[in-house]
Amino acid sequence: MSADAGWADLRRLFPALERCVYLDTASSGPVSTPAMNAGQRFYALANAYGNRAADQWYGAVEDCRTRAAGFIGATTDEIGFVPNTSMAITAAALMFEGHGAVVIGADEHPSVATPWLARGYEVRCAARDPDGRITPDSYARAMTSATRVLAVSHVRFDDGQVNDLAALAALARANGAHLVVDATQSAGILPIDVGVGIDVLGFAGFKWMNAGYGGGVLYVRDGLLARYGLPIAGNRSRATESLDEVVALDPLLKAQAFELGTVPVANLMALGAALELVSSIGADRILDRVAALTGRLRAGLARIGLKTASQALSPIVSVIVAESAQALNVMEAAGVHVADRAGRIRVAVSWYNDEADIDRCLEAFASLA
Ligand SMILES: Cc1ncc(COP(=O)(O)O)c(C=O)c1O
Repeated sequence: MSADAGWADLRRLFPALERCVYLDTASSGPVSTPAMNAGQRFYALANAYGNRAADQWYGAVEDCRTRAAGFIGATTDEIGFVPNTSMAITAAALMFEGHGAVVIGADEHPSVATPWLARGYEVRCAARDPDGRITPDSYARAMTSATRVLAVSHVRFDDGQVNDLAALAALARANGAHLVVDATQSAGILPIDVGVGIDVLGFAGFKWMNAGYGGGVLYVRDGLLARYGLPIAGNRSRATESLDEVVALDPLLKAQAFELGTVPVANLMALGAALELVSSIGADRILDRVAALTGRLRAGLARIGLKTASQALSPIVSVIVAESAQALNVMEAAGVHVADRAGRIRVAVSWYNDEADIDRCLEAFASLA
């Protein structure tokens, strides 16, 4: 697909969009045709050549690492692969264990909350303001002198709130804490720059990256492994590739060490193709597209008299309805695939949606009134 491909051409890479009005990428995005083809290529290679094709598929995995690094402003040494977000946050929880307490946002996604609880950290929650927001000030109020980690979603799964990562990084730094970010609801739809001061970041590729399950990215800022040590290790966590008897651990002090062993090559080949696709469109074009589509949705909702609980720049529009389970049934019956979250209807708008999708969604909402 060329860099200046039109939206209609790009939309055709997602046959799932022909079957319904798909506005549920925040649950799981349809897999794009390039990602599907790339994943299938692994099985074709392994079927035809076995390990003789290993250089090809491991080459593709390293391409994926390079793309992932460029995508978030990291170096390749700072990128490891994980099967899901929970494992990325668990890597942080293992690495920082014994160094202090954690602050997360109220009602955070389990991928952000549970890894710390499982390791016995003291976890405090930043409260919502009366309007439902969790601002940097409320994170600041939850922090104590014992806090060593601030862990947040970049985009919240429930109301789509976009956390200001630069502000939270500054807050963490000022308190001697590390910023850990779950970017699963932003990767592929909002720009991510670890350079603002993020220490650890993870995302899974099955939502806004449209890469399917099993391929996820872990970023660990350079220097952290040297400072805290590698908390887990396996076959591929060693600085050497020698198969000689292992009597001492010679740890690889790169994010890749968290992969432990062989990686899900097919999933990572799919993720690599997904990264290539999103990068070829460009973050600015995606931002403009999503702003235009969510703007159309918000304006239409206002005309119908429905209120939202989300911010203007979020791809997630959380619509306040009287009875969300019943509203979801009405939307589904109208062929509009959305989700019921936090007692509201969550509409997730991606760049491959179009104006007709938004208008059909609005018609379904109008029928609720
Ligand atoms: C904010 C957020 N993080 C992570 C996930 C997924 O977590 P995992 O990749 O661990 O299954 C989701 C949704 O499923 C999510 O909404």
